[in-house]
This record gives sequence, structure tokens and C-alpha cells, in this order.
Amino acid sequence: MTAAFSPFSIDAGIVTRLREDFRQRGVAVLLEPALDAHLWRDLCHEAQVQRGQGAWRLLSQNNVFEINQNNMRGHLGPFARGLLHGSSTLSLLRSVTKRNLEPSWSASCYTYYDEPGSYMGEHCDKFDACRVAFLFYLQSCWPVGASPGPGLGLHVFEGDTSRSALLARVTARPNRALILNGAKQAHLRPPLAPGESLIMLAGCFRLTGKK
Ligand SMILES: [Fe+2]
Repeated sequence: MTAAFSPFSIDAGIVTRLREDFRQRGVAVLLEPALDAHLWRDLCHEAQVQRGQGAWRLLSQNNVFEINQNNMRGHLGPFARGLLHGSSTLSLLRSVTKRNLEPSWSASCYTYYDEPGSYMGEHCDKFDACRVAFLFYLQSCWPVGASPGPGLGLHVFEGDTSRSALLARVTARPNRALILNGAKQAHLRPPLAPGESLIMLAGCFRLTGKK
């Protein structure tokens, strides 16, 4: 690993693999540890603080006009903002997606699936506000002796509906991250089982218009 990609724990070979995965499947996974351990811990702490300060619930069930979901959201803090607009992040996104991207602050947030039954229904991200998503799994847990259940896996489809082929199921392990072509490819998270939880930083990026 080289300092050139700090705070990401990756090297040039991994970037090449990420670019190819993104091209082929629409999702590129930075295996744990994706981030420098100090930053990861700072983000975990910030997410916990934000959960207790002004977090809000997104709840929509059986609604044909909105994304069906049940989870909690929290405002970004300085560590999250610093990561999302950091030069390494933008450079990595450009290398992997071949697009010039900038943070879309209004669409980015901490996301908490911290109750049994929390989920995110099938959807594509908003094309203008979240052309590409960069998701950072901070903390996740499941019962001792069990495997992560379906709700700890992000299901990513080939097209804009779950009727298309399932291309990937990415397990939310702590300090794992993924770059997602979420505006064009449907994705969903099934309901969490008892004993499971997940806290993540959901970064949304829009096109800058720069060539
Ligand atoms: Fe999404």
C-alpha cells in the first residue's frame, strides 16, 4: 500500500481491479480495511454522535410513488465532509468511474439500519444528485456464530429494476467501502434480522461538468 492513495488502503493494482469491476458490474468493492484505521474510528465516533443529535427516520411502506424503506439518517460532520471532498476520494472516483465528480451534499448522509426490520427497498439513485455513490460501511454486526443475513448484503442488479440479473451481493463488513453505479442500476437491502445492525456513510456524487 502507498501513501499516494491515503486515506485509502489501496495500491495502483487495486485501482485497476476496481475500475474493471465498476465497468463490468457497476459496483467496485474496497475490501476491509478500506480506510486508514484512525479515520475509520473517527467516522465511527462521528456517526454515533450524529445518531444522537438530530437524526431522522425515513419511513415509507407500500408506497408506489416513493422508495419503500425504514431506516434512520444523520447529518454529516467534519470528518465525513473531509473524506467526501478530499482530493484522494475525488481522484479515486475519477480513476474508477472515468467521470469528474463532486460531492452532492444534500444527498449525502449517515445511514443507520440499527433496528430489526430496517431496510432499503428497490430503487435507483437520483440521476442528477447521485450519479455515483460511494458507500462506507463503518460498523456492522450479526449474532455470534451466525453468518451475515440477507439484510447485511447490498443487492445490485444489472438494469434499473430488480427484474434484471443480480450482479452482486456486497456484505457490509466494518471498514469496507463500495463505489456504485446507483443511478442506473437498481439496488436494495432486505430487512435486517434480529441481532443485526449496520451504520454507514452514504456519499453521493454528481457530475462536475468538467472534461
Ligand atoms: Fe441508493
